[in-house]
Amino acid sequence: MIKAVLFDLDGVIVSTDHCHYRAWKRMADEEGIYFDEKINDRLRGVSRMASLDIVLERATHTYDAAEKAELAGRKNGYYRELISELTPADILPGAMENLNELKRNGVLVAVGSSSKNTPIILKQIGLAGFFDAVSDGNNITHSKPDPEVFLKAAEMLGVLPAECLVVEDADAGIEAGRNGGMKTLSVKGAVGADYFAPDLSDYSIFRRIIR
Ligand code: BG6
Ligand code: MG
Repeated sequence: MIKAVLFDLDGVIVSTDHCHYRAWKRMADEEGIYFDEKINDRLRGVSRMASLDIVLERATHTYDAAEKAELAGRKNGYYRELISELTPADILPGAMENLNELKRNGVLVAVGSSSKNTPIILKQIGLAGFFDAVSDGNNITHSKPDPEVFLKAAEMLGVLPAECLVVEDADAGIEAGRNGGMKTLSVKGAVGADYFAPDLSDYSIFRRIIR
């Protein structure tokens, strides 16, 4: 029985893809590194430093650890400028209705995100304090597809992994949920899940899975 739904944040509750893209692109352009939307797609669900390693695959020289830290910090500065403009209107269609309906049905809701910016984003979109638990890039040492972020969320909620449904838009996130022994729901075409929906615009998907 599903007692909790663990939501990825970026791309599931709020669309930040374009903010990540613009911030990485600005930094990559400054460094003369080729970067496009297709490379950006590979960064979905991946931690900041692992994302940087993917961006640097196109670099013409190698960067040492200190330089890499500076690049990641610079990108994050640009990203912060962009997410400071997010508002509750940026919550993806249907997400709010589904969250409220789950709560009404006594299902626990949590965030399971790789992002260290999770607290800032939740505040911007008016959802700070809304979730029963928030597990994010600040309390994990292993990024998705490692299940750590979701296992920590389950632990915070006091439920077993088998009682959790993970909702993800990233292949790495679906894999993380599965690695944690959880059921998985893919939105926007992430592969390998138990269940699929184009987006969260319809509650019937949860009704089917939860009972
Ligand atoms: C994930 C995004 O949610 O967070 C990734 O899908 C991103 O693209 C990762 O790299 C880490 O984000 P942040 O905000 O900690 O740099
Ligand atoms: Mg995501």
